[in-house]
Amino acid sequence: MQNKRVRKAVIPAAGLGTRFLPATKSLPKEMLPIVDVPNIQHIVKEAVDSGIESILIITSGTKGAIEHHFDYDFELETRLRQSGKDELADQVHAIGDMADIFYVRQKNPKGLGHAILCAKDFVGDEPFAILLGDDLVVPGPEEGPAIGHLIDCYERLGKTVVGVKKVDHAAISKYASVKPAGEACDDGSPFLLSDMVEKPRPEEAFTDYAILGRYVVTPDIFEILAHTAPGRNGEIQLTDALRQQALKGQAAAAVFPGTRYDIGDKFGYVKAVIDFALFREDIGPQVREYLEQLVKEK
Ligand code: UTP
Repeated sequence: MQNKRVRKAVIPAAGLGTRFLPATKSLPKEMLPIVDVPNIQHIVKEAVDSGIESILIITSGTKGAIEHHFDYDFELETRLRQSGKDELADQVHAIGDMADIFYVRQKNPKGLGHAILCAKDFVGDEPFAILLGDDLVVPGPEEGPAIGHLIDCYERLGKTVVGVKKVDHAAISKYASVKPAGEACDDGSPFLLSDMVEKPRPEEAFTDYAILGRYVVTPDIFEILAHTAPGRNGEIQLTDALRQQALKGQAAAAVFPGTRYDIGDKFGYVKAVIDFALFREDIGPQVREYLEQLVKEK
């Protein structure tokens, strides 16, 4: 039997963003601009470029700016057109046409697993993609989108596939570490998992392959999540539910293509902005010159 197509994606964006306070007191961290494009717009584009047809964004009371961003703004467009800025008006309008986007509020930030549980009615009985709202993945020139790669892996296997990359051993405690059932593959091919652990101390980690914000998950996860007790940091952890699938041989991992930035982390955000600025046609040369001058002076 052919595996079901992955048509839906969930973007959890209801976290408190405490690592980025005070900016995130009223500004959703997902709206932090990477030069002039909010991070979440890049994520929606990654999903759309991977064939996703509808997207659910999990929000909270302070995240209204996300909904405004993906809406039409007739007053702004009219003003831009009146002042001859048609190209900019078209750009602004196109954001509203990117995808069918739905929203649900997570009323209490009880963890990523709890946020995903809020997507149960939207997802129904289909496999679905998850893209974390604060993880940005930029494909290289010959590479496709990260979530598209995991969708391809799912469509071959028919099991949950988590996106991983190798991280420094000391950094594994920030992520979930996976345990391959056999050999891990670095070429992007999926490999079966037998276990995983959320934010382990380095000496407790299975491997340095960390789950980094991209997943394709089978819908039985909702039943598992409904019975998952709070774990690390007192939060309902998605990793704990995925672990149940791994223990039954129902989860795999694949190394995904592209460079990944954690924009919920101050240094990760600054790196993303610098890299994007350097590759921009309009400001790239100026930024490069400025950085070179800065290095000479220091
Ligand atoms: P993070 O732990 O990176 O986000 O969660 P956070 O809680 O906002 O970050 P800090 O540590 O306080 O700075 C990973 C993803 O899960 C979402 C976040 O929005 C982020 O995309 N999340 C987390 C929720 O949607 N709800 C939650 O209750 C927790």
